[in-house]
Amino acid sequence: MHELQDLEVKLKKDLAPEQMLRIIFHYISLIAPEKDLDRILLYMADMGRELILADRCTLWLHDKETHQLWTKVAHGVKALTMPEEAGFAGYALKNNKSILIEDAYQDARFNPEVDLQTGYHTKSVLVIPIQNQHGENMGIFQAINKLTTEGVFNYQDMHLLTLAASYSGKALESAMLNQEIEQTQKEIIYLMGEIGESRSKETGNHVKRVAEYSKILALRLGMSPAEAELIKISSPMHDIGKVAIPDAILKKPGKLTDQEFTEMQAHTIIGNQLLKKSNRQILQSAAIIAHQHHEKWNGTGYPQGLKGEEIHIYGRITALADVFDALASDRCYKQAWEIDRVINLFKEERGVQFDPHLVDAFLNCLEEILALKEQYAD
Ligand code: C2E
Ligand code: SIN
Ligand code: SIN
Ligand code: FE
Ligand code: FE
Repeated sequence: MHELQDLEVKLKKDLAPEQMLRIIFHYISLIAPEKDLDRILLYMADMGRELILADRCTLWLHDKETHQLWTKVAHGVKALTMPEEAGFAGYALKNNKSILIEDAYQDARFNPEVDLQTGYHTKSVLVIPIQNQHGENMGIFQAINKLTTEGVFNYQDMHLLTLAASYSGKALESAMLNQEIEQTQKEIIYLMGEIGESRSKETGNHVKRVAEYSKILALRLGMSPAEAELIKISSPMHDIGKVAIPDAILKKPGKLTDQEFTEMQAHTIIGNQLLKKSNRQILQSAAIIAHQHHEKWNGTGYPQGLKGEEIHIYGRITALADVFDALASDRCYKQAWEIDRVINLFKEERGVQFDPHLVDAFLNCLEEILALKEQYAD
């Protein structure tokens, strides 16, 4: 628990104008070219904190869809959310008004929830709404506990913070838009994958689990985080070709006939043809995975009967992740296997159906994989 005595050791003198300018120039030069939303939030919070001598400064962004205010950075604290109407921030947002508070606990609008979560003690507060280019509120700049002997924020602080926010508004807005686009792309990819998997909710989180397992395996093989992320993003589309397979086969409760299984195998070729039309890296990678995720290490897989390292590493990784998840889950044609039975199969198929190094990597990160299986349970 931070007590007010802690603040006294941090006490500061008001800044001279040239010091303020130096802080503003420093942070604006960092913020202007920055594309990463989290880093912009962090820089803005740091800029605000240094400019007006606050102990903490937080930039809350308004999410109109979830009706929450959220932030990635309260100093020293991990991501937080609160209801859009909560506390001083909620008040400022709703009424489009800046507010100065001397003692939070004497004010009925105060939401002590964040203090309860963080063990921090809030006293003086400054809250200002921040606007986008169209003058709509997009969030709240909130400073807590002024570090001067007066211990309270003043109107100059309010103006400074408003100025600092307006300088960074454009970068902030475009980073928010980027994040929205990236988030939308990811959701579209998962939705495409789910359509491929069953055209229904039946297999639930299968594509998400395959994505997570594939990433862990890629990292374990020593691939770079960026490449592991590429595999994570593209692996959910491995079964997209199932869109072209008739329901009578796809949802058959029992075992497929040879003829039906032959038809089913075409999902690899169909998926590849759909995806390879795009030159985008993610879809190129997804095309390879769709094509090769049923190839087997010993050359008995389909559709090409590729063998060993002829099979692209992305295909080998997704093959293992897909089979692990298919075995460990219920399917319309089978019940989930006990985990020990699944592990035994991978040991038996090491160097037969699956790349032996990959089976080793899988066994080495089993704990992480099982934790993900829990996290994304159907
Ligand atoms: P899926 O259900 O996503 O299964 C993916 C892969 O997991 C299968 O590829 C297979 O390698 C493995 N797998 C799933 N269940 C078992 C199992 O009980 N034993 C073993 N040893 N491996 C298993 P596969 O065989 O190429 O099948 C591709 C897709 O074809 C399956 O995707 C599923 O949608 C469909 N399918 C395969 N067999 C049947 C079946 O008997 N009935 C029905 N209705 N669909 C089937
Ligand atoms: C099944 O035929 O039941 C699953 C597919 C396989 O064992 O390869
Ligand atoms: C594919 O499987 O469609 C492409 C093969 C490769 O690039 O390895
Ligand atoms: Fe498949
Ligand atoms: Fe699958």
